[in-house]
Amino acid sequence: MQRSAKQRLARSLAVVALLGLTACVEKPAQTTDAEYIEQSRSTVAALQQQLSSKLISTIQAEGVVAAIQVCANVAQPMTGEVSTATAQQQISRTALRVRNPANQSDALSESILQDWQTAMTADGTAPEPAVSHEDGHVIVHHPILLQTGCLACHGDPASIAPEVAQKIAQLYPADTATGFAVGELRGAFRVVFEQE
Ligand code: HEC
Repeated sequence: MQRSAKQRLARSLAVVALLGLTACVEKPAQTTDAEYIEQSRSTVAALQQQLSSKLISTIQAEGVVAAIQVCANVAQPMTGEVSTATAQQQISRTALRVRNPANQSDALSESILQDWQTAMTADGTAPEPAVSHEDGHVIVHHPILLQTGCLACHGDPASIAPEVAQKIAQLYPADTATGFAVGELRGAFRVVFEQE
């Protein structure tokens, strides 16, 4: 009787140990914020690469006015393509001042962009990727800074070619995305991980 009680105890201890072990094996290690940043970085790089090579080749072959159509017709669907290539992530672009109203920032993006902008204005702090946990999603924002090649369409309105300004006004009557200088915060890539 005593023996079988011992055996039972031994067996239940073994079961507990086993369960503990499988629990350890099956539960994936919690992804850290640094890992989310790394994983989203390649998604951002892929979109950035596709967008800029398409822009550059179109500007070279057909000029800036034609390249506006690249952004208008290619950027939005391309945003979706990158998402499906890396199944668990969705990527989009947003900004405080947008050209396409579809890229308008939500409350989260707006507060991150505002924080970056405030820190940059105050003491030139370079914006760093920001990880947010919201409604079971992990959202990573990567800063987009303005480069020389962007000025033709996002620079000082006085220096944008009239035919370019005219085409932008025609396609985006509510455009607010001009007047940027090189190095300024232009916006963010926003990568949403579907599951935490
Ligand atoms: C040939 C003109 C052109 C050039 C050059 C250009 N853009 Fe744009 N940009 C646009 C247009 C048009 C849109 C609206 C695209 C859309 O419909 O999503 C846009 C949208 C954006 C957006 C999304 C937010 C918004 O305002 O709707 C960001 C961010 C952006 N551009 C950054 C850049 C950066 C950074 C560069 C330089 C590396 C650049 N752009 C170069 C025309 C241009």
